[in-house]
Amino acid sequence: MIKVKIFRFKENSFSLFEIEKDIKDNTKVLEILNDIKREKDDSIKFMQNCSHGICGSCAMKINGKPALACKSSVKELIEKDGEIILEPLNKNYANGDLTVDFSPFIESFKQIPDYIIPDKNIKKDKSFNEKNNEKSIENSDNCIRCGICFYSCPVIKNKQSFLGPSTASKNFRFLKDFREPQKQDKNRRLKISNELSWSCLKCYKCTEFCPREVDPFSKIEKTHSMIINQTDYKSVGVSHAKDMAKQIGKKGIFDELKLAMVSIGPFKSMKFAPYGIKQVLTLNYRILKKPKNYKEIKKLLESSDE
Ligand code: SF4
Ligand code: SF4
Ligand code: FES
Repeated sequence: MIKVKIFRFKENSFSLFEIEKDIKDNTKVLEILNDIKREKDDSIKFMQNCSHGICGSCAMKINGKPALACKSSVKELIEKDGEIILEPLNKNYANGDLTVDFSPFIESFKQIPDYIIPDKNIKKDKSFNEKNNEKSIENSDNCIRCGICFYSCPVIKNKQSFLGPSTASKNFRFLKDFREPQKQDKNRRLKISNELSWSCLKCYKCTEFCPREVDPFSKIEKTHSMIINQTDYKSVGVSHAKDMAKQIGKKGIFDELKLAMVSIGPFKSMKFAPYGIKQVLTLNYRILKKPKNYKEIKKLLESSDE
């Protein structure tokens, strides 16, 4: 007997279903869901299409982790947790039992030119595909737009200032595409990234849960390096990263107070004054000293520059 708890959108609670099934190694959660819908309750709302991990439509939270239902093994889940708990990817965006409103996710792609702006003079000779891109775009094209990274990201609610992990990966893919070599186009993409990518909290959830190894977090990191190294764009993110590296290079440690002064300016950083005063009053403030392993830290910093 398999126990499956399914989130019910209208009731805002879980329904428990028990289903008899001979579990094989390749029995997937989507199969069980279809059995429950057929045999127990045909009102359960979920999405499915390809059943093979290609369309991304069956993404949901399975035992607390975002995943594709058609790729998740029932046997493994039962052996580990004893039951299966199904929820939508993000309850704040739920519009059905196991579905979310995809419009904010789709809208997020509109923030960048989501197509190649090709160089008309590019020669499509024999070496065209060899030179092409697979290595440099680093799995970005594996994205199936399942929304897992987007709805797991803690920053997307602040959409005005953030591309979101999937769009940032897509943007990186175009930044690296040799068929779009025009400097002004690359700079336009970097400018958008500079305005809309520094809110990333580096929580790593997008990379951890992506079912296609797109690794959005590293794409954001690499885009940040491109912004810092190749353009003159100014932003809080650029100042913050540069000053942090400078302070660590000098002392092996960085001072948040100085960092705030450089990143957002002395006037704006005054808003943190109450926090600073509280730190001093509660004796949480420490005089920062050069750490004993300063040389090692410096080496690490230098190697990260390479
Ligand atoms: S990057 Fe990964 S998690 Fe995000 S939409 Fe694409 S496939 Fe899904
Ligand atoms: S690492 Fe950045 S982009 Fe990825 S989920 Fe966390 S905040 Fe969002
Ligand atoms: S149904 Fe297409 S990815 Fe699961």
